Amino acid sequence: MNAFAHDLCAGLAQAPRRVSPKWLYDERGSELFEQICALPEYYPTRTEIGLLSRCGREIAAQIGAGATIVDFGAGSLRKAQALVEWLVRPAAYVPIDISGSFLEQAADSAEGRLASLPLHPVVADFTNPASVPELGAADRRVGFYPGSSIGNFEPADVATWLAGVRGRLGGGLLVGVDLIKSPERLYAAYNDEAGVTAAFNLNLLVRANREAGADFDPSLWAHTAFYNPPKRRVEMHLVSMHDQEVHIGVHGFRFALGDSIHTECSYKYTVEGFHRLAGEAGWSAEQVWVDPEGLFSLHWLVPRAD
Ligand code: AVI
Repeated sequence: MNAFAHDLCAGLAQAPRRVSPKWLYDERGSELFEQICALPEYYPTRTEIGLLSRCGREIAAQIGAGATIVDFGAGSLRKAQALVEWLVRPAAYVPIDISGSFLEQAADSAEGRLASLPLHPVVADFTNPASVPELGAADRRVGFYPGSSIGNFEPADVATWLAGVRGRLGGGLLVGVDLIKSPERLYAAYNDEAGVTAAFNLNLLVRANREAGADFDPSLWAHTAFYNPPKRRVEMHLVSMHDQEVHIGVHGFRFALGDSIHTECSYKYTVEGFHRLAGEAGWSAEQVWVDPEGLFSLHWLVPRAD
């Protein structure tokens, strides 16, 4: 049994049933996520890029000259490009991603100033702090974690990760964090009219059939996403539209009408709440940039001297 099938069986045996969001990103899932980023309802991407462009000079002043930028999960290069344009004599660009072919493609598509920087791609799971390479004592390593992907982790895991990378990012960390806002706005962002987010979520079942030996009928499942105020997170689920039994290899799982598989959490923070979490992990929040509508935040954190 491969790792995906193993995770899927373990997650479906739990109550409530859940699957790690990392399995949403096969090739098709990554393509669909890129489409989500361009949707009119999905405000985070364009708001963050707007912040990087508008506040770039101030951000660059905080980062300082000669930084080596360590990009976590370099997704699309647009954000790194928007940042690097402003930096003073950046030293190098170190994108870390689990997919080697993705990093190759990214290296080929780098443009402008980013393309002229020494590139040191690292194929690794960046959720493991040890994936941040030791680059030599002279490097001023600055982490860049855009996109609010940090929101897809449980807050306790965020604190563990922040504490883990603290010793490896002596120069600081610039991190994008999505903010709490009206449930209606969040609902629209995760239930777009064109159905792209639904396709992204349902693609998990197609992938499970192809890669994990499952026999899901995707037409018997529906996408749902909603804001859970007490938990301060958007939850994405796949809901069974029938009583049915699904197999993964030799394992059978029964679903009643309305049963769901929880496929993603997207935590939303207040500025103060995120600063508290970072502070507990040994970081000091030096500056924050928020767009005029108060939708999204970019935080400049530096390791606190203990
Ligand atoms: C990658 N991550 C920050 C996205 C989010 O908003 O949580 C993933 C996503 N899921 C549905 N839409 C976008």
